[in-house]
Amino acid sequence: MKITGCWSTFPFLMLCLLLYGTGGSTSFDKITTNELRCLEKEMALSFKILKYKEMELKDFQRELDNLNLTEPLHRFFNPKGTLCKLCQLLIGALKKRTIRVENIARAICNIYIALSTWTLDDFCEDIIELNMPIIEYVLENSEIFSPELACTILLQNDKCYYPDSALTWRMSTPSTSLVKFPQVILRQNAKRLKILHLSDFHITPDYEIGGISNCGYPTCCKKGLGNPIGSKPAGVWGDYECDVPPWMFGTTLDHIKYAHKDIDIVYFTGDIIDHTVWQASKEQNSRLIYYTYKALYETFPNIPVFAVIGNHEAAPLNAFAPPDAPVNESLSTQWLYTLMSKAWRPWLPPDALKTVKRQGYYAHSVNKKLKIIGLNNNVCYNLNWWLLYNTAYLSEQLKFLSDELLKSEQNEQFVHILAHVPVGNEECIEPWEENYNAIVERFSHIIQGQFYGHTHTDELKIFYKNYSEPINVGYNGGSLTPYTKFNPNYKVMTVDPDSYEVIDVETYIFNLTEANQHSNLTPNWLKMYSMQEAYGLNKLSPQNFDQLVDDIFEDENLADLYWRFYVRFGDPSLEDGCDRKCKKDLICKIVTTRSMFPSKPNCR
Ligand SMILES: *[C@@H]1O[C@H](CO)[C@@H](O)[C@H](O)[C@H]1NC(C)=O
Ligand SMILES: *[C@@H]1O[C@H](CO)[C@@H](O)[C@H](O)[C@H]1NC(C)=O
Ligand SMILES: *[C@@H]1O[C@H](CO)[C@@H](O)[C@H](O)[C@H]1NC(C)=O
Ligand SMILES: *[C@@H]1O[C@H](CO)[C@@H](O)[C@H](O)[C@H]1NC(C)=O
Repeated sequence: MKITGCWSTFPFLMLCLLLYGTGGSTSFDKITTNELRCLEKEMALSFKILKYKEMELKDFQRELDNLNLTEPLHRFFNPKGTLCKLCQLLIGALKKRTIRVENIARAICNIYIALSTWTLDDFCEDIIELNMPIIEYVLENSEIFSPELACTILLQNDKCYYPDSALTWRMSTPSTSLVKFPQVILRQNAKRLKILHLSDFHITPDYEIGGISNCGYPTCCKKGLGNPIGSKPAGVWGDYECDVPPWMFGTTLDHIKYAHKDIDIVYFTGDIIDHTVWQASKEQNSRLIYYTYKALYETFPNIPVFAVIGNHEAAPLNAFAPPDAPVNESLSTQWLYTLMSKAWRPWLPPDALKTVKRQGYYAHSVNKKLKIIGLNNNVCYNLNWWLLYNTAYLSEQLKFLSDELLKSEQNEQFVHILAHVPVGNEECIEPWEENYNAIVERFSHIIQGQFYGHTHTDELKIFYKNYSEPINVGYNGGSLTPYTKFNPNYKVMTVDPDSYEVIDVETYIFNLTEANQHSNLTPNWLKMYSMQEAYGLNKLSPQNFDQLVDDIFEDENLADLYWRFYVRFGDPSLEDGCDRKCKKDLICKIVTTRSMFPSKPNCR
């Protein structure tokens, strides 16, 4: 999971050491083949392409030459990591305006594509065009922008960390002398609540049955998209490389309504828009967001739906501007917040909609004993360019969270937190992660569950106090989209009606391969597992999950089970497999809620 540069494979390590050891004293005037391979590996990891294609060296060299570096690469090559310095040089040149953003972006996009299995690259231009106005604005107006800060945020690895004050700010949490525990009288035969957890729909309105599923772009199966040669036809119910056909979304809602008549509340943890991110526009996104919430409302007319915004809802993707930045309307995120404040009107009262309209977050007391806090933590995502303009605006929402939790504590009320982006995955920037963790630590006695999305995987997060005492749990909802290589899923949680503790989580899936083979039938949804049963837990407590992680570390079969659930038995994932290191990374992700500081020593 960590960017390990050349250290991660032993032969590489030896080569690099050898080269590095002699590099200073010989007269190399060009970067060597092995140095290039080291850098290539580092880049692939930073793009999160685990199985990358090696580039033709002359192509790689050409792209690097195109960057017009003021310092030759071989001079700062380092087997422990070259990318950080390269990043800082480029950002420095950008800041001085000696190179152009478009040109760097183009070179980086070219390298990205070459390392991936994609074959078409014209979408780079569209992505650059969509993002340029924001990047230009940030470069022109930011008061915090520096190469060190930018590379810390963009690369998110401990080898490129610079303790800028835009990252190290900490908020104070309310005094712990006030801690008050809610009084609960557990009723013996009280009817348990059922909460449906949905996540990551990623609906493709122009999905084409029989369209091309390996079209050369990052995602496919759309009318007119990509290369018609050598194609694999897209199935009726979806494809492991594509997003969700609207009819699959529709039959899923119908199925849930029919099969789970006892649902009391719905949680949806975000991402409606598909992965053709270079085609996103405010108009298209708005239409699909309305369509989706309308469908939820019509399916569950008498059941409240509590949702959060996903990073794909913005246009361009990931761009969540500070609410008070003096920007032209076209750069602002206000359109989205206004839209959500309308889309969520059936389920939230006016005071909750007010903060939605301001910055996409809210708190709502469902009753005296349960408050739902819906965050818009997409603001913390490292690819939100606005973080390079200002990070202070994150504090408004964190303060809101802390204040709402304090009020709940005073009222002896429990809380469920919903957010799109899980912390601890090297994506959410330091000030959010640190302050959020501190808030969870302070209020863990009333937070009865955190519910996430974004990763598409069925996974857990355990929060620890002082890296040792398990205190809270986050559940990921997985995804309806099979993108990439997963079977679609939804979850049904059983919740205690007095303490609002999660008692069990059941995950339902269908086998996409099989559904497409019987495409005249609707998908055959089945229960993949119940957490209590599969892991033999009598209670889904942080302590029991902590013990489970220790057991998974010891037990190959248990690790294998966790991984199969994680990919939800997706045939292509099972085919790819997951080796020891891959499994270790998955397990370590469970115990990491501060990206650079996993809680278990064997993960550091
Ligand atoms: C580097 O210089 C060449 C020739 O002037 C130019 O075409 C290219 O766009 C420059 N690259 C960057 C990143 O500015
Ligand atoms: C805002 O930006 C748009 C698109 O870049 C531009 O056409 C418009 O003139 C700008 N408006 C103002 C008031 O600057
Ligand atoms: C945190 O844990 C470490 C080692 O487990 C211990 O030495 C330290 O005193 C603890 N700190 C607090 C504040 O409890
Ligand atoms: C899914 O269905 C296909 C086709 O029936 C089958 O070959 C495959 O083994 C199934 N996958 C799983 C994980 O059961």
